[in-house]
Amino acid sequence: MTELPIYPLTNEHKMLRDAARDFAQKEIAPIAAEFDESGEFPSNTIKKMGELGFMGIEVPEQYGGAGMDSLAYVLALEEICKVDASHGVIMSVNNSLYCHGILKFGTEEQKKKFVTPIASGKAIGAYSLTEPQSGSDAGNMRSTAVRNGDFYILNGRKSWVTSGPVANYFVVFMMTDPSKKQKGVTAFLVDGNSKGLTRGKKEPKLGIRASATSELIFENCKVPAENVLGKEGEGFKIAMTVLDAGRIGIATQALGIAEAAYEAARSYAGQREAFGHKIGQFQGTGFKLADMKTRIEASRLLIYNAAIAKEKAKNNNGRYSLEASMAKLFASETAMYVTHQAVQIHGGMGYSKELPVERYFRDAKITEIYEGTSEIQRLVISRSELGLK
Ligand code: CAA
Repeated sequence: MTELPIYPLTNEHKMLRDAARDFAQKEIAPIAAEFDESGEFPSNTIKKMGELGFMGIEVPEQYGGAGMDSLAYVLALEEICKVDASHGVIMSVNNSLYCHGILKFGTEEQKKKFVTPIASGKAIGAYSLTEPQSGSDAGNMRSTAVRNGDFYILNGRKSWVTSGPVANYFVVFMMTDPSKKQKGVTAFLVDGNSKGLTRGKKEPKLGIRASATSELIFENCKVPAENVLGKEGEGFKIAMTVLDAGRIGIATQALGIAEAAYEAARSYAGQREAFGHKIGQFQGTGFKLADMKTRIEASRLLIYNAAIAKEKAKNNNGRYSLEASMAKLFASETAMYVTHQAVQIHGGMGYSKELPVERYFRDAKITEIYEGTSEIQRLVISRSELGLK
């Protein structure tokens, strides 16, 4: 990757980035195509990533994490995603959607109990907001939690839960007072072994096929009241705050995919000959590479900017929704653009499963959809610019 002078990296940043790159090249690259094909969850490599501290990079050491900053997180994630976006999203969900929210809103006991096993790589965490009828319109959820003494009884159906089939713990958002709409949502920490919680079928997917996605079905699932994250009625704000962090992770996933596709296309353009020349010597290919490279570096700047804004927000409890949404919007659309062009530059070989370029193309699409579609990112950005929220 290019080292941009305006973001000088510390030695710790470089060491973590290099460790992630090394691990990705040695351990993930040889198995990525096979796990994409089979759709099997890559438990062994995920476990090793946990042991290396990649599942809780910003989590303080006292809760089993690496105790580093937001920039460190995106640097390491970028290297993993550059090799395999499936491993990348599992890492992103553990770090951002799961650990980040509990660290920010959880009690001391909750942090110890629910963050430590995930950050130290002994267990997997997941985040569950979406329902069959409420994706972008997240406030329109129907699943309910009703208080009964020291417990809440959870009922309903959640969908599109990344790591749903394998996660040990979940952050789940439920309606506790439907009359209050968004202000009636509450967040719960739920043990995956809870009675009354079952996992639906694993979704067959176009891309990120080695990451496991499923529904969650709650049928009179009893959760202790001490497992409420934050306060009753604060759940929607918690969900949105956590998604701001998550969106930086998905932007980084998009960046990694785009970089991998770009490097493959650049290399191919320097070797493949047509009409007596290397195809990179034709302006049609050269200009494509120029646009791909420029958009990748612009994505990187937006992502580093968002990571630094997130780091600052840790001290002043501020928001960085604008920075996170701009990074996700631009990086995900860049990933689609770059992977599309990379397939085109490779011609027939770009369409073949013999090379990973077609996998990059399939993996890129989800970055424009999950953790807020591009349309939702445009909504967040325009509302912020117009002072509407
Ligand atoms: N941080 C803190 N508070 C926030 C916030 C944020 N980022 N965004 C909104 N809020 C607050 C608002 O200030 C408002 O509070 P007040 O009423 O006190 O002012 C409250 O939340 C409600 O906000 P809105 O009126 O803006 O709510 P809305 O219903 O209009 O929704 C939205 C806004 C941006 C469209 C939001 O619903 C949204 O982001 N939707 C997309 C959801 C999404 O990304 N889903 C993906 C789920 S995860 C996934 O993909 C699967 C996986 O496992 C990876």
